[in-house]
Amino acid sequence: MFDSHAHYDDERFDEDREGLLDAIDADDSMTGIINASVDITSSEKLIALAALRKKHYAAVGIHPHEAEHAGSGYIEKLREFASAEKVVAIGEIGLDYHYDFSPRDIQRGVFEEQLILAKELSLPVIIHDREAHQDCIEAVLRYPELKGVFHSFSGSAETANILLKRGWYLSFNGIITFKNAAKPRSVAQIVPDDRLLIETDCPYLSPVPLRGRRNDSRNLRYIEAELANLRGQTIEHIEKITTENAKRLFGIK
Ligand code: NI
Repeated sequence: MFDSHAHYDDERFDEDREGLLDAIDADDSMTGIINASVDITSSEKLIALAALRKKHYAAVGIHPHEAEHAGSGYIEKLREFASAEKVVAIGEIGLDYHYDFSPRDIQRGVFEEQLILAKELSLPVIIHDREAHQDCIEAVLRYPELKGVFHSFSGSAETANILLKRGWYLSFNGIITFKNAAKPRSVAQIVPDDRLLIETDCPYLSPVPLRGRRNDSRNLRYIEAELANLRGQTIEHIEKITTENAKRLFGIK
């Protein structure tokens, strides 16, 4: 199983992080994990984690919630971070019009600057898009050379098709196991085999039957099972294609 989006620097892992990561390392069903950053501090922590843990890789970037606090010179710092070993993407970056923790014009500016950086560095991007589908799509399509994934995809089938046509990947997590998530459950059925990714977004979004508890990468098995059910495929097939896709997108051998 390949977890394309996790946050093992989150404080909810502070009390037992090393033991948990040892257990995940020892789990032969886990192939790889991409840790997504939310700010400069988290980028530094996740680069250090990836250097110590064989299955872990890092994405560096400023989350839309933190856009207002990006600080001067953040692009220079990210450019420097991107040269570290096992940094495989810029992320998570994007727009969040649900919480609006940073003013929207600042979110858009910080997002755009990071898209330009990713293009310059030829790195894939991990997009956070919450209730900002139109602006996110317009922004990424301004840079046709860019490739990447919309994580925790929550848009319509129409939005999905625009992105799929332009080569983007879509990623799904525990939300597809929630009964009230009709939209992502139906969109997950139309994504071609070669564009599908899975993620936990841990410690958040534990799948049913663990909803409400702290999440970790081993719970991907519930997401694989639900995708297999929705798409009429075997769990083994879902596991094979999502692992191949993650390796291809993030350039992992
Ligand atoms: Ni995330």
